[in-house]
Amino acid sequence: MAKNDDLNRLVIVGAQWGDEGKGKVIDFLAAQADVVARFQGGDNAGHTVVYGANVFKLHHIPSGILNPCTLCLLGNGMVINPQILVRELEDLEKRLIKTDNLRISGKAHLIMAYHQAMDEANEKMLGEKKIGTTGRGIGPAYADKALRRGIRAVDMLNFSHFCEWLAGILPLQNKILQEIYGQPGFKYEELCEFYRPLCDRLRPLIIDTDLLLAEEIENKKRILFEGAQGALLDIDHGTYPFVTSSSTVAAYASAGTGVGIGWINNVIGVLKAYTTRVGEGPFLTEQKGETGAQLRERGNEYGTTTGRPRRCGWFDSVIGRYAARVNGLTGLAVTKLDVLSGMDVVRMAVAYRCRGEIIRHFPLDPSDMKECKPVYEDFPGWDEDLSNIRTFKDLPPAAQHYLQAIEEAVGVRMEIISVGPDRSQTIICPESQAAVWMRK
Ligand code: GDP
Ligand code: IMO
Ligand code: MG
Repeated sequence: MAKNDDLNRLVIVGAQWGDEGKGKVIDFLAAQADVVARFQGGDNAGHTVVYGANVFKLHHIPSGILNPCTLCLLGNGMVINPQILVRELEDLEKRLIKTDNLRISGKAHLIMAYHQAMDEANEKMLGEKKIGTTGRGIGPAYADKALRRGIRAVDMLNFSHFCEWLAGILPLQNKILQEIYGQPGFKYEELCEFYRPLCDRLRPLIIDTDLLLAEEIENKKRILFEGAQGALLDIDHGTYPFVTSSSTVAAYASAGTGVGIGWINNVIGVLKAYTTRVGEGPFLTEQKGETGAQLRERGNEYGTTTGRPRRCGWFDSVIGRYAARVNGLTGLAVTKLDVLSGMDVVRMAVAYRCRGEIIRHFPLDPSDMKECKPVYEDFPGWDEDLSNIRTFKDLPPAAQHYLQAIEEAVGVRMEIISVGPDRSQTIICPESQAAVWMRK
């Protein structure tokens, strides 16, 4: 197979703590994609796609689904809750969105009812030390995968086999729920019957997606890899333990879909023009006062999955540089620039001051962040409404200057600028990979 068609495979990842606007960027780029493949996470993700009066909130299903010609894949690196996935499919079908182009990797693991119960019970048990998870059972499902006692999508192909697996696993799951968490547990027969219609509904969608992807690559098809969450929520590179339970970085696009690493060269990191986070954990540029409230209201910063208000703060280029490094970013998409209109001053953290020392890299031990304060650079704000601007040169000079400062501080080229939630509210930088992608 020839590898001279590098731009045919593009990874899109979150470069902060999630909710950067990946859904919007993927939907936009999906107009020119043959395939969109999710590679990690589960229904903890909430990806919003807006066009005209239509607003879609997707949890498992790739943000390419609104493009009727795009094949959408749930990769082997994902964890899938069959009940939520079926509900998502039904919601889309009710809104007359074609869903017959969705396929599920047989190697993906299932989030079972007991995983969700454990996630919630564990958070309750942790009390003040909780992670602030989405309560979707993500951690317990990935833990069972690693412990080699997970149930996979392929097991749904044969219902008696599915029930046999469940019969083997459930006594231990119930023991954990009852004896550690004081929960009632699940009855085998009831659980089997609960999953019967879900297996029936999803069975036709379960295939060998990595074989299919190899064929698509052979045929020079264009593939977008859709990341969920963000670099700072990565299980290895994030602010552990306040992270999700999967690898969110671009390299996992390979392992999480079964496409060899050599096939993937281009990675766009999505960054908000400021920073948000949901759940617990360090966040140095967080603004708890009026500025934070202003960003939350203007940016409508409420969780797509849980509705929780997002913590808001200034852009942090230390995080941006770190995300660029651990992902190998080749381009940036900066979203929600419009939200900053009307601010007198826009601030950006350029370094941290930790115990009297200035550092420009992200600290190894996130608990050290208690000892750190951001060092800010201030930029003049702008008042203009950006939502109807479609070229970089039409942006107010102060906004252009701020974007150039982001580009410089992160050390990666700007590709896409988003000035509103709608598909159309997008600026593509000339000569960028994104411009080439959209021209093809
Ligand atoms: P994701 O998880 O990274 O896909 O992001 P979410 O969908 O959870 O959150 C991003 C939110 O910002 C959604 O409500 C989007 O519709 C919205 N959004 C995306 N880009 C822009 C933008 O450029 N401007 C504004 N105002 N909203 C945006
Ligand atoms: P998208 O794809 C923002 C956060 C949770 C919590 C931590 C662990 O929409 O960007 P989990 O349920 O995964 O075990 O929770 O991760 N989190 C997200 N925050 N966006 C997301 O997804 C998130 N998915 C998980 O709030 O802090
Ligand atoms: Mg989200």
